[in-house]
Amino acid sequence: MASERLDKILVSQGVATRSGAKELIRSGFVSADGYIVRRPEEKFDPESTEIAVRGMPIGYRKNLYIMMNKPKGVLSASRDSRSSTVIDLLPQELKRSGLFPAGRLDRDTEGFILITDDGELAHKMLSPKNHVYKLYEAQCDRELSEEDVRRFAEGISCGEETFMPAGMELTGSNTALVEICEGRFHQVKKMFHACGAEVTALRRLRIGGVNLDESLAPGECRELTADELREILSKNRRISL
Ligand code: URA
Repeated sequence: MASERLDKILVSQGVATRSGAKELIRSGFVSADGYIVRRPEEKFDPESTEIAVRGMPIGYRKNLYIMMNKPKGVLSASRDSRSSTVIDLLPQELKRSGLFPAGRLDRDTEGFILITDDGELAHKMLSPKNHVYKLYEAQCDRELSEEDVRRFAEGISCGEETFMPAGMELTGSNTALVEICEGRFHQVKKMFHACGAEVTALRRLRIGGVNLDESLAPGECRELTADELREILSKNRRISL
């Protein structure tokens, strides 16, 4: 990795603001491989240099990958002047500039949302061409049947829109798992609506090969493990068509 200014490294890791980072460095609180550095513009390769603030290594990571269990009522956006967003819910130790939710869940949808600062991975995860499936649990206002499963598997047209074939598995009289790889605006709700059913609750359970960690309460989050990061772009389906 290329060398970067020391103050920029601290800012990228959420340690301090740009002016705060300069202050910390000039005050002699920051070391690189054990040596105090007092010039904010001095450059280091953050992947091969141990950078520490007040003797504590900052634990450099180029990108963050965070699994959040999004609660209802919160926007999947980076910033909003009126409503709270998934970024607002991040704990202080995971906050840093450049983080955004990869994809969108409706305000009233719960479940797995990935928050990252890796634009390339987010693009791969979201592009329908890449066939990274997302699994939802939907509750509807009427009984669901094998006829709905058949219609989803054929692909659904709704007004001007046509959705790709989607897997559905009935799990109760009015609940089902639904698997899609497109992620268009209100997609699951529109697909059910086209079949004469309204979605009354929606929760995302899985992205690619990674399940939502059920130990996360709504609003809680944690970083993906190395195994999960390898699996997040998996093209495997849970439900075969
Ligand atoms: N489909 C929807 O209708 N809403 C979501 O939040 C996600 C998928």
